[in-house]
Amino acid sequence: MSNLTEALKRYTFYHVIEVAPGVFTPGWKEAEPIQAPVIDALRRLPVRGKRVLDVGCRDGLFSFEAERLGASEVIGIDNDLSPAAVEFLIPHFASRVKMHAMNILELRPDDFGKFDLVIFAGVLYHLRYPFHALRLLRDVMNEGAALLLETAIYTVHEDAALLYCPVGSESPYEATSVTFFNLKGLTDTLRSFGINVCSTRYLNGHIAPVDRCTMVCEFQPALIDEELRRYWDSTHELSSNLEAGQAFLSKRHAERRDDFVRTVRDSSGFKSGKS
Ligand SMILES: C[S@@+](CC[C@H](N)C(=O)[O-])C[C@H]1O[C@@H](n2cnc3c(N)ncnc32)[C@H](O)[C@@H]1O
Repeated sequence: MSNLTEALKRYTFYHVIEVAPGVFTPGWKEAEPIQAPVIDALRRLPVRGKRVLDVGCRDGLFSFEAERLGASEVIGIDNDLSPAAVEFLIPHFASRVKMHAMNILELRPDDFGKFDLVIFAGVLYHLRYPFHALRLLRDVMNEGAALLLETAIYTVHEDAALLYCPVGSESPYEATSVTFFNLKGLTDTLRSFGINVCSTRYLNGHIAPVDRCTMVCEFQPALIDEELRRYWDSTHELSSNLEAGQAFLSKRHAERRDDFVRTVRDSSGFKSGKS
């Protein structure tokens, strides 16, 4: 046991992980209530035999749990790889989890192939390029894959799809936390990438201005609007072919625009602005 105690002193831990009966890594206990619903959701998902990607894996709390639940392969990426996980926890557990130093923005299907389950907890609100990152995640998901997403949600305006993106000291957390979708903003954004939100669970009954939310989602490629996808991701003819452009606009946007403007104008927070 003393070797273990020595090892625990050598590293900095974020996650609290049991390394021997009754012996835990000295991680950040304050974060445990945020992680508990993710563990809970993970245990309800069909993990056995699945390929799992844990984005922002830190010390590997969710990676090791996925392995315990029978995942066929678990890959973790983090743009600040945890020495505690790589040098101590993985060997200590004789784990097959593989961790790589990688920014989500570098992730491509060629790196590790596609996955049946992506765990994306505690990372989205840190991202400066959230839409692009979500698209990259979608691109490494198999059809029908699950996305287990935990993030901070902006809870003040609920009717319109919003992204609150405070910089520096204006962040409700700290300066690296710059991306706070409201629930509609995140749900609609995910759907536009073909990812359907199946369940949501707020941590604190959706306190203002920001609460944490755990979401279980599923990638359904049929949800993707192929014309929009080409417009955003590739090349298109909607600007040069006016007829096609008009048909496109009236079908997907013009009819909804009035609704949107009305919703924004009527929502209480916006009423106080100049009008
Ligand atoms: C708040 S911790 C969350 C750790 C763990 N996922 C959890 O929920 O307990 C955020 C982790 O995401 C990593 N991270 C932040 N931005 C990232 C990015 N762009 N690409 C990969 N990892 C990132 C950080 O280094 C850190 O380890």
